[in-house]
Amino acid sequence: MSTRPRTPGPSAPAPGKIALPELREMKRRGDPITMVTAYDAPAARLADEAGVELVLVGDSAAMVMLGHESTVTVTLDEMIFLTRSVTRAARRPLIIGDLPFGSYEISDEQAVGSAIRMLKEGGADCVKLEGAGRMVARARAIAESNIGVMGHVGLTPQSATKLGGFRAQGRTADAAIALYDDALALQEAGCFAIVLEAVPAPVASRITEALEVPTIGIGAGGGSDGQVLVWHDLLGLYAGPAPRFVKQYAAIADEIADALGAYVADVRSGAFPEEKHGYSIPEDELEAFVAALADRG
Ligand code: KIV
Repeated sequence: MSTRPRTPGPSAPAPGKIALPELREMKRRGDPITMVTAYDAPAARLADEAGVELVLVGDSAAMVMLGHESTVTVTLDEMIFLTRSVTRAARRPLIIGDLPFGSYEISDEQAVGSAIRMLKEGGADCVKLEGAGRMVARARAIAESNIGVMGHVGLTPQSATKLGGFRAQGRTADAAIALYDDALALQEAGCFAIVLEAVPAPVASRITEALEVPTIGIGAGGGSDGQVLVWHDLLGLYAGPAPRFVKQYAAIADEIADALGAYVADVRSGAFPEEKHGYSIPEDELEAFVAALADRG
């Protein structure tokens, strides 16, 4: 038998890192799971320090970071770039790289290839994809490649056009049953957790009770096993109306606007920089410098 230490892979988390089985344990104990999105190193560090279990590098980055109208246009390369900056900075939370639209729909091979890139190039611990139906097979293919995969049903922004916009899902008995079945199918395919977005609270609660894997709600009431919010929504960093399910815990955009306004005013008035913001030069060096300039005429 070889005594060579095994290279840590997707199933061997670094010491201190949240491990996938811990999430099921938390569900079993009834401990709420906390998840937040992050798209850069400073945010990842702060999320880690706050003690969240899960950090999602969401394709919401398309809208809140990159200025797109929807999440559809962000590319896998862009998502990997953002994920890399998050994985450099967060140690304990499990980091989930969101697979963007177009990076997994075509075939199981494409889905597994994109997930592998997200882990190898982005440094993510696992991935997330949206939808059910044919996407159940994609989730299964990723899970069978030993890569943790999170599902996402309800309002799935990548298919917002098909859903008729950014609107709540599962609001009729038939739609709720379909959602319920989708969540069960994703669990059966091997998803380690499932995001429920913009789903009536009683429907989300029934789905949560039926699943062995944790549900993470966003706009799905308090009956899910965990909650997720988008960084910019949570902190009040995003201009424009927030969805009704957002609780804004700060108004950072206002603080930034005040700070920038004060900076512009200080530069214009000469109040910034002050002497303490600069560097000194010894008196004799300054004299020699001035003399050298004078010699040049
Ligand atoms: O992209 C994202 O931020 C998400 C969350 C809203 C779950 O998918």
